[in-house]
Amino acid sequence: MSDKKPVFKPNKEFAKNANIKNMCEYHDLQDKAMEDYEGFWGDFAKEKIDWIEPFDKVLDESKAPFVKWFDGGKLNVSSQCIDRHLDTRKNKAAIIFEGDRGDVQTITYLDLYKHVNRFANLLKEDFNVKKGDRVVIYMPMIPEAAYAMLACARIGAIHSIVFGGFSSEALRDRIEDAEAKVVITADGAFRKEKPYMLKPVVDAALTGKTPVKKVVVVQRNHEDVEWVAGRDYSYNEMIEQKSSICEPEVMDAEDPLFLLYTSGSTGKPKGVQHNSAGYILWAQMTMEWVFDVKENDTYWCTADVGWITGHTYIVYGPLAMGATTVMFEGVITFPDAGRPWSMVENHRINQFYTAPTAIRVLHKMGENEPAKYDMSSLKVLGTVGEPIDPPAWKWYYEEVGQSKCAIVDTYWQTETGGHVVSPLPGATPIKPGCATFPLPGIMAEILDPATGEKVEVGEKGYMCITKPWPAQIRGVWGDEERYVKSYFGDVKKDGKPVYFTGDGAVYDEEGYITITGRTDDVINVSGHRMGTAEVEAAIKKHDNVAEVAVVGKPHPIKGEGIFAYIVLKSDDGIADEVEEVKAINSIIKKEIGNIALCDEMVFTPGLPKTRSGKIMRRILRAIAKGEEITQDISTLEDPSIVEKIAAMVK
Ligand code: WT7
Repeated sequence: MSDKKPVFKPNKEFAKNANIKNMCEYHDLQDKAMEDYEGFWGDFAKEKIDWIEPFDKVLDESKAPFVKWFDGGKLNVSSQCIDRHLDTRKNKAAIIFEGDRGDVQTITYLDLYKHVNRFANLLKEDFNVKKGDRVVIYMPMIPEAAYAMLACARIGAIHSIVFGGFSSEALRDRIEDAEAKVVITADGAFRKEKPYMLKPVVDAALTGKTPVKKVVVVQRNHEDVEWVAGRDYSYNEMIEQKSSICEPEVMDAEDPLFLLYTSGSTGKPKGVQHNSAGYILWAQMTMEWVFDVKENDTYWCTADVGWITGHTYIVYGPLAMGATTVMFEGVITFPDAGRPWSMVENHRINQFYTAPTAIRVLHKMGENEPAKYDMSSLKVLGTVGEPIDPPAWKWYYEEVGQSKCAIVDTYWQTETGGHVVSPLPGATPIKPGCATFPLPGIMAEILDPATGEKVEVGEKGYMCITKPWPAQIRGVWGDEERYVKSYFGDVKKDGKPVYFTGDGAVYDEEGYITITGRTDDVINVSGHRMGTAEVEAAIKKHDNVAEVAVVGKPHPIKGEGIFAYIVLKSDDGIADEVEEVKAINSIIKKEIGNIALCDEMVFTPGLPKTRSGKIMRRILRAIAKGEEITQDISTLEDPSIVEKIAAMVK
């Protein structure tokens, strides 16, 4: 692999006022963290968090990998995000909302305070939601989604947001696993000027036995919805009568803040648990360091609140630091691929954060669109979710950022809570496609899984984090063992288990980190994790499916697409297969949602398996890519199957 990538130095003007101004400052911070880890984090925690009661201990590792940060400390995350700004930022925009149809709403910090308190009172008074109760949020991208999150935080309820693209079955699984007693949803919202619906999905998820007692419905598109008397309540009818004052619940530093389900290598999604103080501290600090947001800046992240990026970098991070965060309901290519750039111009956006897949779409559909708008407000551009390919990077840098904005390629995951490896826009000389260096305070290292030693330059290893960090996942909901096994089972350093991200990575000669992708059976579709086992479990629900194996295949827009090899119980030829594809797709839609639809399905006479019955996915991945099969297939139960499958895929 050639390591001679071009290097782009930070913009000098920008660096002068940046929070971290050069690599010396970066190294000083990282050195301080190495010399006195607890001192480093303790000082920041004291400075950044509005404690109700101070903490006694910075880090308690005595029960590792179950760790405690800032034990003894008391706070409320909604106060950290709202109340503490009221003295100085009461009339500052907290959220600028732009609807699909171009409608704009500005919510000041004072407005936000009132909305959140009213919502909190509604949950408390009308639905008896108490500290520790789980509340599922199934919402479109509207400000009420943020109010709902913060209202939960205010009363100490644990929210679990389910992305609006998930099906009723996926929603049901997550509701049941978390034993949620309330669901917050909306009638629906708008997409490409047309209404779409969410409430019917909730209705379908709650049929039969369910832990859910109450459903709150926010009106957005005003379409008719079914109403279950005694269960369903109208937010809009109730909210005005609620008091706009709600005392924040006093929370322990380690009280859970939220759950967010994510895919792993088994069929069942994991409820990743994040707790209060450590999470909010890192959300805020990374906003300040990585996006370098200043008091009068306007910041926009295009993610959905249903993913971790929406949690940390639309709601919690920006609000904790007192920034103005833009929320967008619509589709970035509608009415045309200039939509985001018109929003940059109209709202004078200073930091723009999106996924490589979105950049590829915008590039493909509107190469010359950025030039039509005034993009001069932009200072920092971010990417997240997958490695960014050179053509997308170049267009983003030159056309969107006019060759003057830093691109921060932020590497992290649901479990890390916030960025862990990323450039600092005023300090780090960047290389396209490189997440560069661990952030100060994050002990991220690429290790050899066999020895636990740091890998040599150019050698692929496992991306690990060798010390606990404040925003680290605290557990898998309801399954302590799965937490330990999933993250602390694969790599040991000096004999001690360390956190393994599931990603492979490599260092170049200058120590830059490039993430090379997942090492497990997880596919990255448009920057989102899809577990192959989850998709396989859905496909297996079809009566005529005997066996199935799903792999990722490089896709020009999505990064990876889903490729399924299916063995049917009975196969009556092509006509039959066309029907089966339809039937299987509708099952996937019902079980998971459109995001898990297969790009390709091939019906094969068998699958390549070892004699012990393990499916050799490596071979299937290679066939999907159209690669030559170089690995040894002699250990297969039936080596001839490889050739047969390969012939069908061509
Ligand atoms: C996985 C996490 C983090 C929020 C969005 C996705 C991949 C993430 C990068 C990057 C290369 C990246 C990893 C990671 N990933 N950021 N900058 N470069 N790969 O969150 O669903 O938890 O997925 O996304 O494979 O493990 P997620």
